[in-house]
Amino acid sequence: MTEVIRSAAALRDRVAAWKRSGMLVGVVPTMGALHDGHLSLARAARAQSDRVIVTIFVNPMQFNNPEDLKKYPRDEAHDLALLEAGRVDVLFAPGPEEVYPEGFATKVTVAGVSEPMEGAFRPGHFDGVATVVTKLFGMTQAGRAFFGEKDWQQVQVVERLVRDLNIPIRIIACPTIREADGLAMSSRNVRLTAEERAVAPALHRAMKGAAGAIRDGQDAAAALAAARGAVLAAGFASVEYLDLRDAATLEPVATVARPARILAAAQLGEVRLIDNIGV
Ligand code: PAF
Repeated sequence: MTEVIRSAAALRDRVAAWKRSGMLVGVVPTMGALHDGHLSLARAARAQSDRVIVTIFVNPMQFNNPEDLKKYPRDEAHDLALLEAGRVDVLFAPGPEEVYPEGFATKVTVAGVSEPMEGAFRPGHFDGVATVVTKLFGMTQAGRAFFGEKDWQQVQVVERLVRDLNIPIRIIACPTIREADGLAMSSRNVRLTAEERAVAPALHRAMKGAAGAIRDGQDAAAALAAARGAVLAAGFASVEYLDLRDAATLEPVATVARPARILAAAQLGEVRLIDNIGV
């Protein structure tokens, strides 16, 4: 049975009781519209913690586009059924006034890793993520937090944040879960039309092609340009970025001397898809 908690005070009491019994608490922060990717994070949390909290909060502060916030899929009843099946102990689903009460005036900004790519195309996005994640860590008092590698840049931002602010929580990054045709699972995928859904795997296909070419010693700039062309030819409206970057610093790299990743964002109809793979 998953208990639904909406107030930070009630959550604090529940977690304090667990901690008095020596339990390790894991948290999976989400914005709901749960899919197998989220459930894989909950499974990892189940395996590595004594008690599991999944948070659902569609965080207005991280949406730079009001239309995107309005259209973000929401279905708490369905999410709760999935969490029950996944043996999650608590669903923490606070309202906006619980997270951002009257007079709220603090913003957490992580410089460096939050600036390129998503940071450049979605101004303010990572301030919103860093602020809400700091709040969720404070409210849940969890010892471990589970994030999907699908949002690779977000993971780097959160890792920097907990190091810089001495937040006593271990960040565990879990592999991206993909559909059979390679499309990375995302809550936004439900907004793709049938035609767009058929086109969507071209992004991952092109990135895989570029990663293979770079591994085989081909020129990275040429491989990335070919991948951008393939994504557009498949029917995407635009490619915001499709870059080769250092996996940890997210600085652009021209060759692979240290772990590197290809990261991409591209627009398909009304939906903006992001993805990343190791090279
Ligand atoms: O990845 C997400 O769903 C969100 O960015 C997060 C981490 C829950 C913060 O709102």
